[in-house]
Amino acid sequence: MDMKEIIRTRKSVRTFDGKPLSAEDKTKLLSYVESIANPYNIPVKFVWLDKNKHGLSSPVIVGEDAYIAAKVPKVSHAEEAFGYSFEKMVLYAWSIGIGTTWIGGTLDRKLFEKAADTAADEYMMIVSPLGYPAEKPSEVDRRLRDKVHGDERLPASKMFFDGNFQTPLTDSEALAILEAVRWYPSAANMQPCRIVKDGSKYHFYEQHKEGYRNAYAWDVQKIDMGIALCHFMSVTNGTLITESPNIVVNEDTEYIATVMVKD
Ligand SMILES: Cc1cc2nc3c(=O)[nH]c(=O)nc-3n(C[C@H](O)[C@H](O)[C@H](O)COP(=O)(O)O)c2cc1C
Repeated sequence: MDMKEIIRTRKSVRTFDGKPLSAEDKTKLLSYVESIANPYNIPVKFVWLDKNKHGLSSPVIVGEDAYIAAKVPKVSHAEEAFGYSFEKMVLYAWSIGIGTTWIGGTLDRKLFEKAADTAADEYMMIVSPLGYPAEKPSEVDRRLRDKVHGDERLPASKMFFDGNFQTPLTDSEALAILEAVRWYPSAANMQPCRIVKDGSKYHFYEQHKEGYRNAYAWDVQKIDMGIALCHFMSVTNGTLITESPNIVVNEDTEYIATVMVKD
């Protein structure tokens, strides 16, 4: 599978077949996560969590073998760095047949933080179950997917713009690449990412969902933005920069970063 196919076929897996991961797959995943870097150069540390040893579960997950958590220092851009690195793990896992789900809400947070040995100067934002996908989803899984419309995404015309937020992007070559961003996973499938293309620069913005900003000590939707950046940078040879684009934005919309793509 190439990266575009991995991105397009990946889904949250909440129902697993109950089988343990093979020693080979476990080793592959654990050695891959050691190699993950992100463009913010903020270290994101992955921790394998033995489900039985720590008594871990999630009310939406069935048949998982183990969990993986990650921790990030409490610094500026921690969320984007976390989202970027964790999604690298998610995409790699999918490419070798391992299912994952981003879990930030449906967990006993204190229990997982303790199991991951989270220090006072770290955030443990997200965990994921690990295992092989079952053939049929559980009832809870099916209901959750329906509720958040997990198989749907916003149309490109609502996400990608040309030069300003008034002009939907029509450049078909750019839209074909941005399809990889359209399918990024986000918390409750709320899809906060907006992109304004300006020549070879792609400005990434977060459109905040009212009432969501202060739900945690961190901005959950900035994690989503890190995921969107990961997808885009995985299918382009872009470089992350931050600047102050001269683009008029609504009050609910925040500039996050720019990716400059070389021709
Ligand atoms: C930051 C973040 C947090 C999430 N938290 C949860 C969660 O607590 N429980 C859950 O079942 N799914 C959670 N999800 C998964 C989303 O609901 C899912 O990605 C989205 O509905 C799209 O479906 P898909 O991943 O199958 O494409 C989370 C996703 C992200 C990115």
